[in-house]
Amino acid sequence: MSIERKVAQLVQPDIGSITPADVREYRFGTILNGGNSGPYGNDKAPAADWLKLADEFWEASTAPLENGEPVIPAIWATDAVHGHANVPGATVFPHNIGLGATHDPDLIRRIGAATATEIEVTGLDWTFAPTIAVARDSRWGRTYESYSEDPALVTPLGAAMIEGLQGKAGTAGFLGQGKVAATAKHYFGDGGTSQGVDQGDVNGDLDKLMAIHAAPYPAAIGAGVASVMASFNSINGTKMHGNKPLLTDELRGKLGFEGVVVGDWNGHGQVTGCTNSNCAQSLLAGLDVYMVPEDWKALHASLVAQVKDGTIPMARLDEAVLRVLRMKKALGILDGEVKPSARPNGGKWNLLGSPEHRAIAREAVAKSQVILKNAGVLPLKPGARIEVAGTAADNIPQQSGGWSITWQGGGDLTAANFPGATSIWGGIAEAARTAGGTAVLAPTGSAAAASAAKPDIAIVVFGEEPYAEFVGDRKDLAFRDEEGLALLKAYKARGIPTVAVFLSGRPLWVNRELNAADAFVASWLPGSEGAGVADVLFGKTQPTGRLSFAWPKTCEGGATWREGGTLFERGYGLGFAAPRIASVPLDETCAALTNDSGAAWFANGRLASQVQAVADNALLPDLRGNGNGIVAAGIDRRAQEDARRITFGPGAKISFTGPDSGAAFRIAYQVLNRPAGPVTVTAGGKAVDITQGLSVAEGKGWREMVLTQACLGSTGGRLTFASAAPFAFQISEITRDEKAANVECSF
Ligand code: BGC
Ligand code: BGC
Repeated sequence: MSIERKVAQLVQPDIGSITPADVREYRFGTILNGGNSGPYGNDKAPAADWLKLADEFWEASTAPLENGEPVIPAIWATDAVHGHANVPGATVFPHNIGLGATHDPDLIRRIGAATATEIEVTGLDWTFAPTIAVARDSRWGRTYESYSEDPALVTPLGAAMIEGLQGKAGTAGFLGQGKVAATAKHYFGDGGTSQGVDQGDVNGDLDKLMAIHAAPYPAAIGAGVASVMASFNSINGTKMHGNKPLLTDELRGKLGFEGVVVGDWNGHGQVTGCTNSNCAQSLLAGLDVYMVPEDWKALHASLVAQVKDGTIPMARLDEAVLRVLRMKKALGILDGEVKPSARPNGGKWNLLGSPEHRAIAREAVAKSQVILKNAGVLPLKPGARIEVAGTAADNIPQQSGGWSITWQGGGDLTAANFPGATSIWGGIAEAARTAGGTAVLAPTGSAAAASAAKPDIAIVVFGEEPYAEFVGDRKDLAFRDEEGLALLKAYKARGIPTVAVFLSGRPLWVNRELNAADAFVASWLPGSEGAGVADVLFGKTQPTGRLSFAWPKTCEGGATWREGGTLFERGYGLGFAAPRIASVPLDETCAALTNDSGAAWFANGRLASQVQAVADNALLPDLRGNGNGIVAAGIDRRAQEDARRITFGPGAKISFTGPDSGAAFRIAYQVLNRPAGPVTVTAGGKAVDITQGLSVAEGKGWREMVLTQACLGSTGGRLTFASAAPFAFQISEITRDEKAANVECSF
């Protein structure tokens, strides 16, 4: 193989930035689809498109080479982290935190096997799962990807998932039909960062850190895991992607891992002295495959040059290439394998979201429900007249969480993006009918309708909105959304007993809701088979779910939250036979709640829950998408997609609406090219021309714009930017500032 072709085996671009022609020209060893990438630029592309594109990439990568060089098929990796959930119609299993509550390795093995089959149906070969993080601070946005805070539980569950996905090492079917390559991720320390900050630093004594965060790896390696993903985090200040002692000496030497070490999304670019397109350091430290979604061309060129000038020894290059080839060999890819659609499971659409797989998911949902409180209302009585409330009750995107169709999940997704799925409401309605009772859906509760018949019991479904990675990082553990609380209280006021069903990616401080409800079920993020929730509520399945994380008593969170005592220990969870606890009122004070200022309208890539972005009348959920001449797209400032590029067509305008605090607006922004026509901003009634300010900002990098009453006249709950000519600017933050109310406006 030429140096160019060897290097290409180590370069992993995202399908969003390559075409089959690029694959044909470069012959990448592997490709990936990030959480927001789908075939042909469509993140919601139907399953058939995935297989079609897999065939196209396959054919491009296997076209004969003129110089007689060996032809090596490319393989495609995806984040099938709770089922093959990027693909509409796939079975979406509960996220790992729910699976942890099942404590059931056999179930998890079956989930792995079902997931592998569904991946094969769409022609892919490799999944970036399981996450075997040991999450130690629930403020971390990836807590739900962790099976448990206890390495002793993460270890067997991670190994079981690997066995399910890949088959049993040493047996005939290993990595064969119905099996895909798995990834143990993220090595290591992802769940141990200071303050739970995603991609942050983990500090402390190395042996002690390894005893917690590297503990699940020996079993994963023992199960034959094909790849290990290097973590974004640093350990005592050194980023893992450049950490030879840990990536090579520990992982290869002590732990004996022989498979592929794949990098995380531009993780190499975070190594000191590196950029996304230039980083010999990572290969030298022990990385084999660079995940380089967009900058693959420049990275390929720099690596080739570094091999040629001796910066990278040929032996290191060969070693990494060999590992990629061995993985393909083990997958059968090098032995006359045919194109994805011609493989045994390729295009067998009846296997995607099959009844058998959905039954496993439903079983997992039922086994993951943890009853935290039950003042005698569960199981529900047969024949009961039930009312089901809460906007989360009939909400498949919300019950699926992040990494579902899109990276962040939620947003503009609807049930239509999850064909074949059942909402929690759907499951309750069916179970009520079967039990000879009735159920009605009243998302906002029936309290308003005085004439409404009084139900025997109300089930209120509520919880966290979906998020993924750092977007889910929080400063404390307070659960703020009061929709569920208000509903629980309204039913209580009418003398109607309630069951709270709480959707969340982590244990959160919900003392107020625990006090208000007669029964409380931690439901986690169940995925597409919401009927599993009803299975427990109605007593069809015994409640065997037990917490795999301790539950906080106070709302602050942080490393020391346990000092105040936990509300429920790990292992807690009630069975129906458990003593019916009298509800001792829990302390409802939470300083973090009192201090909320509602100050951040947009920060860390997220719009605050009370804030909306609209282009005229088109809602831009999550400040993304397009409508009426506005295009809002995610860009990276300090972290992936933590900022947006807002592009205006002629005459287009974008508005932000949120709480009217009367305060000034501070906007972190950058202008690459000055506006070609007038740009105005309006908050009160009057449009202010800001063309001059934006022109001055051209090419000056990130700056802050302060908009106050001094120029706007009044600052309300709505801020509108309008541009007469085509224009684009980037914003990373919009905050309200009380103190700046009357200062001059500035750019
Ligand atoms: C995440 C990984 C994921 C990868 C590809 C990264 O940002 O940390 O868990 O596998 O992206 O989507
Ligand atoms: C995610 C990808 C996602 C990307 C967006 C990464 O961190 O893991 O899957 O599409 O960010 O920039």
